Amino acid sequence: MIPFFKHSLIKNKNYIKKTLASSYLTSGPVCEKAEKLLKIKFKKKYAILTNSWTNGLITILLSLNLKPDDEVIVPACTFVACANVIEMVGAKVVFADIDPSTKLMNINDCVKKITKKTKVIMPVHLYGNLFQTKNLKKKIRKNIIIIEDSAHAFCGEYHNNIIGKYSDFLVFSFYATKSITCGEGGAIVTNNKFLSEKIRSIANNGMSKPAFKRFVNNKYIPWDVNQYGFKSNLSDINASVLIDQIKNYDKIARIKKKIFLKYKKSLSVIKGISFPKEIPNKNRDYYLFPIGVQSKHRNKLIEYLLEKKIFVTVNFKSITELKYYKKKYKNVDCINSKEWGNQQISLPFHVKLRDREILKITNVIKNYFKN
Ligand SMILES: Cc1ncc(COP(=O)(O)O)c(C=O)c1O
Repeated sequence: MIPFFKHSLIKNKNYIKKTLASSYLTSGPVCEKAEKLLKIKFKKKYAILTNSWTNGLITILLSLNLKPDDEVIVPACTFVACANVIEMVGAKVVFADIDPSTKLMNINDCVKKITKKTKVIMPVHLYGNLFQTKNLKKKIRKNIIIIEDSAHAFCGEYHNNIIGKYSDFLVFSFYATKSITCGEGGAIVTNNKFLSEKIRSIANNGMSKPAFKRFVNNKYIPWDVNQYGFKSNLSDINASVLIDQIKNYDKIARIKKKIFLKYKKSLSVIKGISFPKEIPNKNRDYYLFPIGVQSKHRNKLIEYLLEKKIFVTVNFKSITELKYYKKKYKNVDCINSKEWGNQQISLPFHVKLRDREILKITNVIKNYFKN
C-alpha cells in the first residue's frame, strides 16, 4: 500500500511532555513562542495562532465588520472552506476563474469582477505554487483588503518578495496533511496592530484578555467584552508540536523539493498527463503533487490506482460545481476552474516517499494509459 500522506512528527523534541508538566494546556507560553517564530519567519509584527485556517479566516472577516451585500472574491477552484467562511459571516462570495496554465486565480478575471461592494480578495497559493500578489495589488483600489490563503504554502519567495509582503493578512493551515501540522490548527500573520488585537479578542470569545494574560505577578488583571467573538484559539498542547517543525521547516522543504523534482521527471515521460505551470521562485512549498488527465480518464484512473493500492485524492472540484454553491450562485462563468476540477488528481506525496514507490506509481499510470 502507498498511503497518500505520512507525517514525520515522531522525531519531534519532547515539547509536549514539557507542556503536560506545566500549568498551561490552553493558549499560553508555548503558543507565544510559536507566534514569535512565525513573526520572524514571515517578517511581520503580529502573529495569532488559531485552531484552524477556517476559524482564523472567520475571525478576520468578523473583524472587518462585513455587511450582507459586501463582496469577497475567491478563486473558484480551491477548498470549499474559502467560500464557506464568507457565507458564515453573511457576505457574498464572488468567484474568479483560474489561469488555465498555473491553476492560480486569474488576475484579469478577478479585476473584472471587482465592484463598489468588493471589500476583500482572497488569492490562494494553490499546491504551494506562488500567486503573484504584487501584480494584483497594482491593479486594485487601495481600500480592498487582500488575504493570502497560505494553507498550501509555509514558505515562498519570488523576485525577492516573501509571501505576505503585498497582502494585509497571510493565513496558514496546520491541518493533518499540511507540510507542517499539529493535527488541526492555523495561524494569521499581519502588520495591522488594530485588527490583530481585534482578531485575538474575537478568537477568545470577544474577551479583552485571554486566560494566560489575566494574572500577572499574582495580580488579577480585569477584563471585559467589547465585541462578540467565538472560540478559535489554539492550545499549548497543539503548539508544542509546531515548534520543532517551524524551526526545521527549511529541511522539510528541501526534502520535499527533491522528491517533487524526481517524481515530476519520472512522470513527465507519460503522454496524457499534465502539471500546473510553476511560477518562477526562489523557494516555495511543494505541498501536493497535482497532475491533470482528460476528464474522461480522471475517475477511472483514480479507481485503477486504488485497485493497485495507491491512495490518491482530488484537490479540488470547482466550488461553483458543488451542489450548495451551484444552487445559490447561479450561472457563474468559471470554465477553467470547472475543467481543472474534472481533471485533477493529487498523487501520494510526503517526506517519506521512496524512489521505489515513485517508480511503482509511474508504472501503474503508464500501464493505465497503455490499456
Ligand atoms: C486552500 C485551502 N484553504 C483553506 C483550507 C482550510 O484549512 P483548515 O482545515 O485548517 O481550516 C484548506 C484545507 O485543506 C485548503 O486546502
